[in-house]
Amino acid sequence: MKRYFQMKRIKIIGTGSYVPEKVLTNFDIEKMVDTSDEWIRTRTGMRERRIASEKEKTSDLAVKAAKNAIEDSGIKPETIDLILVATATPDMFFPSTACFVQSAIGAKRSAAFDISAACAGYIYALSVAEQFIRSGKYETVLLIASEIFSRYIDWTDRSTCVLFGDGAAATVLKGIDGKKKDGIISTLIYSDGRYAEFLYLRGGGSSCPLTHESIDNKLHLLKMKGNSTFKIAVKNMTEAARESLTSNGYKVSDIDLLIPHQANKRIIDAVAENLDIPQEKIFINIEKYGNTSAASIPLALDEALREGRIKEGDLILMVAFGGGLTWGSALIRW
Ligand code: COA
Repeated sequence: MKRYFQMKRIKIIGTGSYVPEKVLTNFDIEKMVDTSDEWIRTRTGMRERRIASEKEKTSDLAVKAAKNAIEDSGIKPETIDLILVATATPDMFFPSTACFVQSAIGAKRSAAFDISAACAGYIYALSVAEQFIRSGKYETVLLIASEIFSRYIDWTDRSTCVLFGDGAAATVLKGIDGKKKDGIISTLIYSDGRYAEFLYLRGGGSSCPLTHESIDNKLHLLKMKGNSTFKIAVKNMTEAARESLTSNGYKVSDIDLLIPHQANKRIIDAVAENLDIPQEKIFINIEKYGNTSAASIPLALDEALREGRIKEGDLILMVAFGGGLTWGSALIRW
């Protein structure tokens, strides 16, 4: 007799976020480097960003976001099968930040590991979670994106220091049986390592152990080719968004809410123009948080839900881009 394998639907059953208390405004940055609130606002769309306190670690932000998402979902930490932390700024090389989170929230039986895909980390982690749940291996996955980029920014470099902020956001995913058509429809992830030097942080890795000299040369801080990154981000985000739709039989007009990675308002505007999607269908909170790297999409998702911008049955498209280069998209029926 032929057996049919019924694949699980994957639902986001809870979301949560946490941003550090300290606010760094464009006016504060004006006092640090040769820039202006006007330049930052018009070139990036940012007004302020959050900065972690000296005592806060990436796992601290992650744990707070995770607890909020767990509470929102109503699950017990002991039922979590897998914890994924998307981060490019982990507590340390190892153990993974996910292991620290696991211990702090008491998710006794879960496996835990980090995912490194820079600003596309959340979409990458969503894709990994999707495979584990769809295959039936795991049922409940806690996915957290947490970043403290402020520790790796050259605060004398005006072309990068205005862009990044710290924050964390989490989602609880669950595999559900049944014939309803909601949940994750598909995820797409891509990378192109030929452009690794567009956005990187070398210092401390095996190619560049930390020495007095490497620190004097600021190799422990983020380096970016802003203009080249901008252009390729627009192209790849547009393509990933289009592919998500066409491969699943949807049109741009079917989208209820686009949640793009919040790297630069002008990048979002250019992608929106390419796709021909109206502004009111795009969720943007970049003015408050800047680029929180992997955390930006789940932070926006959490905020969109709290603001009532997403209702049952809505078609949500997420699209991300980051160092690597990495990029991807996720299509979700809410
Ligand atoms: N304040 C004032 N002037 C600044 C500035 C700042 N904070 N940062 C750069 N400038 C200057 C540059 O020095 C340059 O001056 P010059 O013409 O005298 O040399 C001028 O502004 C234009 O620089 P350019 O790099 O061409 O500006 P831009 O319009 O590309 O904007 C970024 C710069 C960084 C905002 C933009 O390229 C960007 O957002 N890139 C993508 C970065 C990103 O999102 N990375 C993460 C991806 S996940």
